[in-house]
Amino acid sequence: MDSRNTWIVVIVAAVLVGLALVCCVALGSGLLLWTRPSVGGLQSQDYVSNGQTIYFTGRNQQGQRIPFDGAPMWLYMHGGSCASCHGADGRGGAPVMMGTEIPGDIRYHHLIDEEHEEGEEHPPFTDETIKRAITLGLDPAGEPLDLTMPRWRMSDQDLDDLIEFLKTLDGDD
Ligand code: HEC
Repeated sequence: MDSRNTWIVVIVAAVLVGLALVCCVALGSGLLLWTRPSVGGLQSQDYVSNGQTIYFTGRNQQGQRIPFDGAPMWLYMHGGSCASCHGADGRGGAPVMMGTEIPGDIRYHHLIDEEHEEGEEHPPFTDETIKRAITLGLDPAGEPLDLTMPRWRMSDQDLDDLIEFLKTLDGDD
């Protein structure tokens, strides 16, 4: 082989090695993305009840997205659910993006508790007033909640299931 042919062989070999490397990286990151657990580690089919599905995904078990009014713009753009604002444990207490009020503790026993924490002006919730807070954004005294809390257009069945789920969030304080 003269030196010109040798160079061609070297260049072709280098290109092949380069291509192989690119393929490996692409395949590797593809696999990584594919095997990566979804956010929160749960797929919708892993939720045990309709109420839990709504709480964590903003959809019901039939896959219907629950429409809402009010709420910050990001909820319309990126989707979200009760958990986005009130937390996976329902305790709330952390400010949310573009929010003008801090989401409260919506664990069932906390909502219906006779002895409210200091600073809460309204009477305890009942099942009916919890539903009204979710759909109409009113507190038990009938006062409007801050618009950071979406007004959800939800069927009676979905509301009942969601309240059952809020009961399961009850834990030790
Ligand atoms: C974009 C954020 C956001 C999302 C999503 C959200 N909430 Fe809220 N929620 C709030 C805020 C903020 C408040 C407090 C409003 C106020 O104090 O005026 C609130 C208040 C409430 C209250 C009244 C609690 C109280 O102590 O007054 C209930 C009940 C409630 N939310 C249930 C839900 C449920 C159920 C969902 C899901 C279907 C949900 N929220 C989704 C932000 C949110």
